[in-house]
Amino acid sequence: MRILVVGSGGREHALVWKITQSKLVDKVFCAPGNGGIAQIAEGIDIQADDIFGLLEFARKEKIDLTVVGLEKALALGLVDEFTKAGLKIFGPNKLAANLESSKVFSKELMARYKVPTADFKIFDSPDAANKYIEKIGAPCVVKADGLAAGKGVVVAKTVDEAKSAVISMMQDKVFGDAGKKIIIEECLMGQEASILVITDSKAVVVLASAQDHKRIFDHDQGANTGGMGAYSPAPIVSTDILKEVMDKIIYRAIDGLAQEGIDYRGVLYAGIMLTKEGPRALEFNARFGDPEAQAILPRLKSDLVELMLAASVGKLSKIGALEWDKRACVCVVCTAAGYPGDYAKDKEISGLDQVAKLDDLVVFHSGTKRIGDKILTSGGRVLGVTGLGATIKEAINKTYQAVEKIKFEGMHYRKDIGYKALKS
Ligand code: AMP
Ligand code: GLY
Repeated sequence: MRILVVGSGGREHALVWKITQSKLVDKVFCAPGNGGIAQIAEGIDIQADDIFGLLEFARKEKIDLTVVGLEKALALGLVDEFTKAGLKIFGPNKLAANLESSKVFSKELMARYKVPTADFKIFDSPDAANKYIEKIGAPCVVKADGLAAGKGVVVAKTVDEAKSAVISMMQDKVFGDAGKKIIIEECLMGQEASILVITDSKAVVVLASAQDHKRIFDHDQGANTGGMGAYSPAPIVSTDILKEVMDKIIYRAIDGLAQEGIDYRGVLYAGIMLTKEGPRALEFNARFGDPEAQAILPRLKSDLVELMLAASVGKLSKIGALEWDKRACVCVVCTAAGYPGDYAKDKEISGLDQVAKLDDLVVFHSGTKRIGDKILTSGGRVLGVTGLGATIKEAINKTYQAVEKIKFEGMHYRKDIGYKALKS
C-alpha cells in the first residue's frame, strides 16, 4: 500500500515510523514532514492545510490510505473532500472534528449526553464573562472556543488573571476568531490522563493509556504548552477507572454524536482529570495526542495500518484485540529557547548520531529541518526523545541519558517527565 501522512510534528514522525513497520506498506509519503521524517519517508512540499493540493497529490500518486495527524486539516474538512473523491482516509470529518475544533460544541454535547465534565458557561461578550468571573471567583478556567495549538486554555489562580485572559482572547484577539466565544469553567483538581481510542462509530478499540506534561517547567509550573513529554502506560488508570472512562465518557460521546447523525471515524482522544469524585472529561481531541503518540505507538505490536484502514472503511469490528509491549515508554520533549512564546530558530542540533546507535531509543523530530547534512531547529517543540524500559524508572533513565547527548543552543527540557508514575 501507498500511505500519505498529513502533518509535520513529532506525532506524525511517530506515525510514519510505525506505518513503515507494517507488512502492508510499500511506500510512505508525508506532507509536509520534517527533518526527521524525511529520513524514513518521502517528504512532500504541500502544507497540511492545502486540502486541494493534498487531494491532487493523493489522486496522482494513487495513495491507498491517507492518515491525518493534524487537527487543523480535520477542521478544514480534509476528510470530507477525500471521502467525496472516493479516497480512503483515516480521521473524522469536519462535523465530527468539531468535538475538538469547537470547545463550545464539545461542552454542549457533553452536557446533552451526561458526559461528566467541569461545570461551565459560554460567553460571547467580555463584560458578561468578567461579571461571571467576579461571581464565581478564582481559581477558574478560561478557554477559547476554537483551535489554539494547545495554548487556548488559562487556568487562572486569581480573578485578575482570569479577567486578563478574557481580554486577551476576546478584545486583543490573540487567537483570532478562535476567541470569539469563550468558556469559563470550574477548576478541577487531580491527576490527568489521556485515553485514546480508535473508532468507526460502531466499534471502539482502546489504546494504551498515557499521561502528558502540559506545563513548560518542572513540577507543572509555568505556561501551558503543546506538551513537554509523555509516558505510557499511566499506572493511575486502573482497570476500574478505564471502565468508568469508557462507559461514561467515550461511549456517551460517540453514541451521542451518532444519535445526532454524526459518524465519528478516527482517533478519539479524551483528556481526563481524575478527581476525587471520579474521572471528568477536560476535552476531546479528534486525532492522536502529541506527545502521547510518541509514547504509545512504540508499545503497539499490532499493525497500525490494518487498524486505521479498518476504521476508515467502517470495519473495525473485524479487528481482534491489540497486542502491546509490556514495557513502559517515556518521551521527553526538547524545546527551543522562548517556547511557548516567541522562540529561536535555525540552531544546529548535535548528538543525534550518537543517540541513533542506542537500543530501544528513538528520537521523533517535531520542529526540525534538514539543510545539507545538518539538522537545524525550525519549531518551538524540536525533538521528542523516546525510550522503552522494563519499568517506567528504567525508561526514564534510558531516555534522559540520551537527552543529555543531544545539544542545541537554548535547548530546554523538563527533568521530571514520568516521575508522577513512580508515585502512583
Ligand atoms: P484542554 O485543552 O481543555 O484539555 O486544556 C488544556 C489543559 O488545561 C488541560 O490538560 C488541563 O491541564 C488544564 N485544564 C483544562 N480544563 C481544566 C479544568 N476545568 N480544571 C483544571 N484544569 C483544566
Ligand atoms: N498532548 C496534548 C494534545 O495533543 O493536544
